[in-house]
Amino acid sequence: MLRPATHVYSQRAIQAADQPISRLMAQALANPGLISLAAGFVDQQSLPVEPTRQALDWLLSDSARGRAALQYGTTPGYEPLRRQVLDRLQQADGHPPCERQLDVEQIVVGAGSNELLHLITDTLCDPGDIVLCGAPTYFVYQGILSGLGVRGVAVACDEEGMIPEALEEELARREREGDLDRVRAIYIVTSFDNPSSVSLSPARRPRMVEIAKNWSTRQGKIHVIDDAAYRELRYEGEDPPSLRAFDEEGNTVVLAQTFSKSYSPGIRVGWAVLPADLVAPVCAQKGSINFGSPNFSQHLMSAVLELGLLEPHVELLRAAYREKRDAMLAAAHEHLAPISGVSWLHPRGGLYVWLTLPAHVDTGPTGTLFDRAVREGVLYVPGCYCYPPEGVPAAHNRIRLSFGVQPAEGIRRGVEALARAVREEGNNK
Ligand SMILES: Cc1ncc(COP(=O)(O)O)c(C=O)c1O
Repeated sequence: MLRPATHVYSQRAIQAADQPISRLMAQALANPGLISLAAGFVDQQSLPVEPTRQALDWLLSDSARGRAALQYGTTPGYEPLRRQVLDRLQQADGHPPCERQLDVEQIVVGAGSNELLHLITDTLCDPGDIVLCGAPTYFVYQGILSGLGVRGVAVACDEEGMIPEALEEELARREREGDLDRVRAIYIVTSFDNPSSVSLSPARRPRMVEIAKNWSTRQGKIHVIDDAAYRELRYEGEDPPSLRAFDEEGNTVVLAQTFSKSYSPGIRVGWAVLPADLVAPVCAQKGSINFGSPNFSQHLMSAVLELGLLEPHVELLRAAYREKRDAMLAAAHEHLAPISGVSWLHPRGGLYVWLTLPAHVDTGPTGTLFDRAVREGVLYVPGCYCYPPEGVPAAHNRIRLSFGVQPAEGIRRGVEALARAVREEGNNK
C-alpha cells in the first residue's frame, strides 16, 4: 500500500516543493518558441570564454598549482581568493572604521551566494522565526525561507528601497504581538534589487543598521543580511558603501556577494562576510554539507583576479547590459507607455525592469494575462511571486521583466508581444 507523501518526505522537503522558479522554467521548456523575459540568467554572448581560457592555462601551466586546485579544499574556502575578495571589498567600501575588525577568517566562500544565503538563514533561524524582507524581494530567497519553515514578512519599499519608518512600525507590531524575539534578520537586496531594480539610498543605509541594532533584544539579535549580488552591474551613478561600512562593531551586518553576475554563474563562486561570532556556526553547517565548495572554481576565480581579468570584463558587461536596458526602455516607451495605467521604474543597474500595469490586471497564475502573454509569445515573472507571504500584501498588477538574456531584437519583440497581451486584457475587462 502506498503511504501518503507526507509520510515519505520530511516536512522540509514538502515545504521546499513547487517553487515558482521551477514552474516558470517548465513553461519555458514546454514552449521553446517563447521569448523569455522571465529568466534571470546572464547574457550568453558576453560570457568570458577568452579570459577564462587564459586563467585556466595559467592555473594548469604549473603542475603544483594545478594539483592544488584539483584537490579538496577547505570548508571556508581558498584563502588567497578570500584575501582578494577582502581587498576588493576594502577598495569598494573605502576603509570604513569597521574595517579595522575585519579579518580574512570572516570571509566564507560558497557555490554561489545562494548557498551562503541558505546557510546563514539556517544558522540564524529556527522554524517559526521571522525574517523581514522588502515588498517586493528576491523570490528564490522566499523559497529558502519557506523551505526552512521561516516566516517571511514584507515591509513597504519605495524608490529608495526599504522604508525605515515602515520597518520600525513592523518591529513595533511584533513587539505588541509578543514575537519580537522571533525576528532574526532583515534581508535587503541593497543594489539594483531583484525584482524592483531599486537600490537602498545612501541616506537609508546607516538607518537600517541602526534600526537592527536598536531593536536587537537580550533574547534576540537582529542581523541585517545585505545581498549585494548586483553591486557590480551599475550603469549610472555612484556606488555607495555596503551596509557593513555602517556597522562599527562589525556584529550586525552579513554581506553576501557573488561572481555569478559580474563574471560567470557557471563557475559559481560567491562569498559572505560574516560577523566574527557567526563564522564557526556557519562553517559547522557548511562542513556537514560539503566540507568545502568546489575548490577548482575557487582557484579559477582567484586566477582571474590575479591576472587582472575581472575588471575589464565587468566594464564590458556594463556596456553590454546598458545597451540592452536601453533597448527595453525604448520598447517600453514605444509600446507600453501609450497604455493607460502602465508605468515602470528606471533601472540604474542590475537586470530587471519592474512594471506596474493597470490595477484591474492580475498578472499572476490565477489571472488571464499570463496565458495571453504566452499565446502572444512572451514569458514574464508574475510580480506576486516576489512578495513574502505576510506583511504588506502582494501587488497583483506587477511584472518583472529581465533584459539579461535576450538580444536587443528579442527584447523589443518580447515587449511588443506583452503590450499586445495587456491591450487585449483591457479590451476584455
Ligand atoms: C538577489 C540575488 N541574490 C542572490 C542570487 C544568487 O546568485 P548565485 O547563487 O549565483 O551567487 C541571485 C541570483 O539570481 C539574486 O538575484
